[in-house]
Amino acid sequence: KPNHLAMTPPMGWNTWNKFACDITAEKIERAADAMVASGMQKAGYRYILIDDCWQGVRDKDGNIHADAVRFPKGIRALADYVHAKGLLLGIYSDAGTLTCGGKPGSRGHEFQDARQYAAWQVDYLKYDWCSTGTQDGPSSYRTMADALRETGRPIVFSICEWGTANPWTWGEGQGGNLWRVSADITDRWDGMKNYSLGVLPIIDLMEPLYSYAGPGHWNDPDMLEVGNGGMTEAEERSHFSLWAEMSAPLIAGNDLTAMSPFVKATLTNEEVIAVDQDALGIQGHRVARGEGWEVWSKPLSDGGRAVVLFNRSAKRLTVTAKWSDLGYPLTARATVRDLWKKRDVAHDAQNYSDSVEPHGVVMVRLKF
Ligand code: DGJ
Repeated sequence: KPNHLAMTPPMGWNTWNKFACDITAEKIERAADAMVASGMQKAGYRYILIDDCWQGVRDKDGNIHADAVRFPKGIRALADYVHAKGLLLGIYSDAGTLTCGGKPGSRGHEFQDARQYAAWQVDYLKYDWCSTGTQDGPSSYRTMADALRETGRPIVFSICEWGTANPWTWGEGQGGNLWRVSADITDRWDGMKNYSLGVLPIIDLMEPLYSYAGPGHWNDPDMLEVGNGGMTEAEERSHFSLWAEMSAPLIAGNDLTAMSPFVKATLTNEEVIAVDQDALGIQGHRVARGEGWEVWSKPLSDGGRAVVLFNRSAKRLTVTAKWSDLGYPLTARATVRDLWKKRDVAHDAQNYSDSVEPHGVVMVRLKF
């Protein structure tokens, strides 16, 4: 049964990409402060998500406790802090005996842990897939989804199974609101590093899965690396644009207390965010391609399209979107608005061409 949550892709911030296991309640409170002060909350970001390594021990009754040094006041106090700002709190566990960081997992404690999270007033659970041995994916995630539902508290359920057993085919049916489609993202444009993937290979894994996404059930190409320093400005803008075009969860993964003007402006571009959060919830995908270039299209609830002209190559290219590639008749005419320049760039247009920088995008919104 669907929980009616995440009707648009979740937006927030998560500790992992920047801080990994080096987390404290203090750091998370500062991130919540910065989410408000930076304008990110106003732009739609809601969830403050604690990833791995918040756990201390499981006591003799099986109750899980937060690390007493890193979270001296406990998770409930942190939830109260975050809620007082109008934000929501998420937590993390694992379907196996241990998390990927070696902390206690929820295997055999699913209902007890779900009740604990609800008592702490948690609003979101990311559920990982380490130390699962021969466990079955769908039924392991089903158990936790049932446990969360039984608490009666609305809790978004994020399946972090890395795409191993095609979770897009069963994630919604087993009670998930989103599911990862790949191994971990890394802060680079292309290639692999220690089993982690750059932005480009993740885009290629995500793109063909567009038919599985919709309101309440999203494909998840992993959290954002915008602002973490491993990519050029053009690459970071492409990363953010394509995540929005693919209706991806927009979960920032940088240090929100130390953002450059470029990073802040990228993460808070409300016209790009509006594409991600469009009520139709259709994942955009590639509709045309040639040597080094692609055209992507995402249908929007006003009958228009969000179009990305994408240059994968290392040299500047001119890319053209033809309305016939977007499902319109050749005679259709549109107003074209550039979502990064934030101005209309053509009226009554019958196609749109623009010069696109290396590894860059031009992202436009068409109104017919
Ligand atoms: C693997 C997940 O894919 C990551 O996003 C992160 O949650 C780590 N585990 C934490 O150990």
